[in-house]
Amino acid sequence: MSETSKEQELEIIAKEVAPCVRCKLSSTRTQTVFGEGNPNAEVMFIGEGPGKQEDLTGRPFVGKAGELLTRIIERGMGVPRDSVYIANITKCRPTVDLKFEKDRPPEDDEVIACSPFLLRQISIIQPKVIITLGNPSTRFILRTKEGITKLRGNWGDFHGIPVMPTYHPSYVIRNGGENSPLKRDVWEDIKKVLDRLDWKRPG
Ligand code: URA
Repeated sequence: MSETSKEQELEIIAKEVAPCVRCKLSSTRTQTVFGEGNPNAEVMFIGEGPGKQEDLTGRPFVGKAGELLTRIIERGMGVPRDSVYIANITKCRPTVDLKFEKDRPPEDDEVIACSPFLLRQISIIQPKVIITLGNPSTRFILRTKEGITKLRGNWGDFHGIPVMPTYHPSYVIRNGGENSPLKRDVWEDIKKVLDRLDWKRPG
């Protein structure tokens, strides 16, 4: 598939996502957050769902967690953020009691309703590696109930695509941020991805 047609295929899904009312999250959103990046990306990151800033801007990972993810990509992997693809399991912001105040992980019914969009994104992009961020996306992609602490750093498989689970940037921020040992764990996981892709580790 050429780049243009991958772009067009993604555009078709984005147009389906924008007016989606498949689950209750549609009742509170400002807008959907489809995902962004290079349709030919070798690496695809999957988070859980948009937060406040993402809901306001329509872009994934642009809040505090997004800043850390961008540093992981640009400094840790040594590539521009727009060379990878970034998406979430849910395209609308999940909040506690749908009050639109406090973010929460997506619930099962929301994952069931929304994940077909993500699966179509993966099948169009066909990344060489998927990096799942935190429990919800790791559990969904690897079809496991195991927790991220156990799974991180170990290769999994999604229909032939190698999957590297790592901590969610928000979790790293909540637990010490840049100086946290969790950040070092994420870096170790990213190094495994670079080695697998035969990408040079940034100097
Ligand atoms: N957390 C996520 O999982 N996804 C985003 O897009 C932002 C924060």
